Amino acid sequence: MRATVDRVGIDSHGRSTKVQIRRVRKGDLSKVRDVIEQTFSDFLERQLGTRPRQPFGGAQYVHHRWLMEPWGCFVAEEDQSKIVGAGLGVTWGAVGVIGPIAVLTNYQNQKIGQQLIQAVEDFFEENKVALHGCVTYPTSAKHLAIYHKFGYRPKGLMVVMSRVLERRDSRSAAPRSPKGPLAARRFSTLEETKKKAALARFHRITNAVCRGLDLAKEVEIVDGLALGDTLLLERGRDLVGFAIYHTPGVSEAPAGTLYVKYLAIDPQQKRVEYLEQFIAALEDLGHELGIQRVILPAYTTYWTAYSTLLRGGYQVDFTMVRMQRGKQEGYEDPTHLVLDDWR
Ligand SMILES: CC(C)(COP(=O)(O)OP(=O)(O)OC[C@H]1O[C@@H](n2cnc3c(N)ncnc32)[C@H](O)[C@@H]1OP(=O)(O)O)[C@@H](O)C(=O)NCCC(=O)NCCS
Repeated sequence: MRATVDRVGIDSHGRSTKVQIRRVRKGDLSKVRDVIEQTFSDFLERQLGTRPRQPFGGAQYVHHRWLMEPWGCFVAEEDQSKIVGAGLGVTWGAVGVIGPIAVLTNYQNQKIGQQLIQAVEDFFEENKVALHGCVTYPTSAKHLAIYHKFGYRPKGLMVVMSRVLERRDSRSAAPRSPKGPLAARRFSTLEETKKKAALARFHRITNAVCRGLDLAKEVEIVDGLALGDTLLLERGRDLVGFAIYHTPGVSEAPAGTLYVKYLAIDPQQKRVEYLEQFIAALEDLGHELGIQRVILPAYTTYWTAYSTLLRGGYQVDFTMVRMQRGKQEGYEDPTHLVLDDWR
């Protein structure tokens, strides 16, 4: 790939500068986080009319993603001294997910965002990604246009949903954790030798959802950095499904929330009651951890899963649109019980 891209830009005082795209280095990490948070705060302030105190409610995206996928993380640097933009991408096996991308407000509309996207796209090509994906703001003509330029097409809506866990939750009076033949286990409690086997079992499930999809990196980074854990739902010796979740701290979970990044039930065992019981187990975990809210992402094309969340009292916090390009475009089966977040 092109290791760096040079072009002339204009700084906030109207002077011409040289902006270069390069890979993120360890020493950049806090600055990258600042640039992303500042940019999204500006953007959300324009959308909402008030500036959020924290644009992501305390969720963090940079440090662990860089550790997980250092070759997929890029910055735009002005005159080799000032980071003015950042773009991250991750490969989940054959699926590449791009974002967040941010360019400081004063530096926007100078093609820096496109160069960052191009760098991540080149990284995807090198890794032979079969499906390129992102989520963006469906009401922004600019956001849709910039991804159109790279061949992405808008697909269905993605919604971030949540439910408050009340202290005296009537549903929590009775034990709701997996009943009958189902049992839940945390990945972190497995012996090291068993973890490899569990990753292979997760891959069998994700591969049945989308050919080549593999979430092993996400499971391992969450385990390695204790960002949360992965819950295995089992029926005897069979794995029914798994859910990667983050808990507050330096993870993608906003303060006071248990956040599920990815959940899938084996398509061959797709029973709605399994999803309901899985969510109940996650809510029980939230109670145990003294957490007030559970956040679940839903892609509305997975209609059965989305309807199950609505029935379970989950409300839509905000809406984004999923965009895709590549051979496996639109792979999602509406009956698959999958909750996944491409942010
Ligand atoms: C989205 C973002 C990264 C784009 O970065 P940028 O450096 O401003 O983008 P670029 O200058 O490379 O490209 C913008 C393109 O959108 C086009 N555009 C701008 N407004 C548009 C509109 N209303 N309709 C259609 N196209 C529009 C521009 O013309 C430009 O295309 P061109 O170069 O062919 O003229 C930047 O705006 C940003 O950081 N936004 C806030 C954070 C964010 O929303 N991130 C993305 C989340 S998915």
